[in-house]
This record gives sequence, C-alpha cells and structure tokens, in this order.
Amino acid sequence: MEEKVNKYLGEIKEFAATGKEQLEEFRIKFLSKKGIVPSLFAEMKSVAPEKRKEMGQFLNELKKTAQLKVEELKSSLEAKTESGSSNADLSLPADYISLGSRHPLSIVRNKIIDIFSRIGYGVSEGPEIEDDWHNFTALNFPEEHPARDMQDTFFIDKNPDNLPDGSQVALRTHTSSVQIRTMENEQPPIRTIFPGRVFRNEAISARAHCIFHQVEGLYIDENVSFADLKQSLYYFATEMFGEGTKTRFRPSYFPFTEPSAEMDISCFICDGKGCNVCKYTGWVEILGCGMVDPNVLENCNIDSKKYTGFAFGMGIERITMLKYQINDIRNFFENDIRFLKQFESAV
Ligand code: DAH
Repeated sequence: MEEKVNKYLGEIKEFAATGKEQLEEFRIKFLSKKGIVPSLFAEMKSVAPEKRKEMGQFLNELKKTAQLKVEELKSSLEAKTESGSSNADLSLPADYISLGSRHPLSIVRNKIIDIFSRIGYGVSEGPEIEDDWHNFTALNFPEEHPARDMQDTFFIDKNPDNLPDGSQVALRTHTSSVQIRTMENEQPPIRTIFPGRVFRNEAISARAHCIFHQVEGLYIDENVSFADLKQSLYYFATEMFGEGTKTRFRPSYFPFTEPSAEMDISCFICDGKGCNVCKYTGWVEILGCGMVDPNVLENCNIDSKKYTGFAFGMGIERITMLKYQINDIRNFFENDIRFLKQFESAV
C-alpha cells in the first residue's frame, strides 16, 4: 500500500492541466466518492493495527496534495481565460487605440474646395509630371524666362531630346499647368479649381520647401470681368479668414495673365494695426491672380474675342501657416503626431 501511495503522490505532483475538462477528470480520478483517495482510505481496514496511524497520516498527506493541486490549477486556469477572450469581463473599458487626425494641409485644402464649390466651382486635377508646353510655353512664358531654369525646375530626364519637340519632362512647378489641360479639353463656360502638389528646386528652409501644394482657379465665359474676379476672391477671403477681412489688389506680373495682381488681406492677427505676421504693414499677401492672357486662350483653341476669364493661384502651405500661425513649413512634412493632432477639430 505504501508503494501505491508513493506512486500516486508522484503522479499528483507532476500533473499539469491544459483545460478545465482535464482538471475535472483529475479531480474525479482522485477525490470523488469512488476515486482513488477514498478507496485507499477504505483499504485501511486491512492495514495492521500498529501501522494504521502512520498509514492514516500518509493518506491524509495524499488527499491534501490532491486538493491543493486542484485549487492551484483551477485558479491559474481562471486567470488565463480572463485575459483571453471567452470569459473576459465585457464591461471593462477597452484598450486605448490612438486615432489619427487629418493633416492641417488637408483640412485647409478641403475648406478651400468647400468655399469655391459654394459659388459654382468644380474640382479637378492634372499630372504632377508635366511637359514644357503645359507648364511653360502654353502659359505664355518667354523662351528665356528664368522659371524654366534648372535652378527652379526639377527636370526628370536631362536628355534634351526626350520629347519629339526637343523639350524636357519636368515635375510641374505650379498648378497653372492644369488650366491649360482643362482649356484644351473643354469649351467655356469653365469654372474649376485645381488643387495639387508642385515642385521647385529650392533649398529647404523654415519658409520654403521643394515640395508644396497649390490651388489654382479658373473661370472662363463670355463677359467675365476683373470685377467678377475681385468679388469671387473677396468672398473666398471672408469665408476663409472671417467676416470683416479686407482685401486689396496690387498690380503684379505673371506671363499668363494680363492685367495681373496680387491679393493681400488685412492682417487677421492684429486687425491691420501691425504685428510680426504682417511685418507691421497691416496686410498679408495670399495669392496671385489676373485676367487670362488672350494668348493663353488662343494656345488652347479658345476664341479670345468671344471669351474672357480670370485665374488665380495660392499656396496651401502659406494659407495654413497664416491661419494657424505656424512659423516653419517643415512641420508639415515631418508628420510628428504632436504637431498634427492640434488641428483635428480646428476648422
Ligand atoms: N502660378 C503662380 C505661381 O506659382 C500663381 C498664380 C498667379 C496662378 C497668378 C494664377 C495666377 O492662376 O493668375 O506662383
């Protein structure tokens, strides 16, 4: 009998349950009414009287070891299922998942699209890789214009005869190229904005980047005048920067518009009184614009005697930096969540 008890003790100590059913089988085997432990106690009758006390203690030890094992395994199995799924407490709060936020440039681009769509503008896009015709020539850039220079433009292939006309393929330097593509494919009335990414071969600094974003606008129809341009852009400025924003137009020069202008808005930080955002002038420049040059219309087979129109172009980074007083353009490209998170509910 002693031998048997020793064997069972060893078995109990080694037992490890992988599931509840296995543990229950173990409990039944040793501790149930007809299990090993009670039947060993029943065998006590045949043990010699002088050995009974010792044997009794030995059997009690076996019983305790089996009971302890069952308790131990039961609680360790319970701990496992709690952290797993089946028996988990469903009322506990879920693990925190950090949600992304919209990029400030997307927020502002969407706002620009929203404002212009309210006054009848559609939205379309053009390619980022452009040919000389759409980026420069059709836009009335003279052959020697400095913007065509290697210093400003990223040419994709340095081989000068990679296009049949001998011109080069480049990354577009402005979204004005999409004006040309649209006018080549559609007849007036045209009223569309073109948001997109543009590229310039510039040194990266707090104020300039070699990749940035623009929104171009184009409105071509019969009898479109400079007054229409001013009113549309005035509407944009007040919607974007708030009621009471003043606008002013300064004469400027772009090859593809005549006359050309730059539009300033009254500084919304200091209300025109003078601060370091407006460099103490009370005004900040936000976009370039003008009446589309008749040469450009003719380059796209649009009758410049019948149709007139205006165009405008603005930098999304610039508008965003002004609106949120961000003083380093590089923030937009670093994707630091601490920076990006600040704008999610801003507009
Ligand atoms: N393309 C110009 C630039 O990148 C911006 C611009 C100015 C666009 C005047 C226009 C415009 O459509 O009329 O600096």
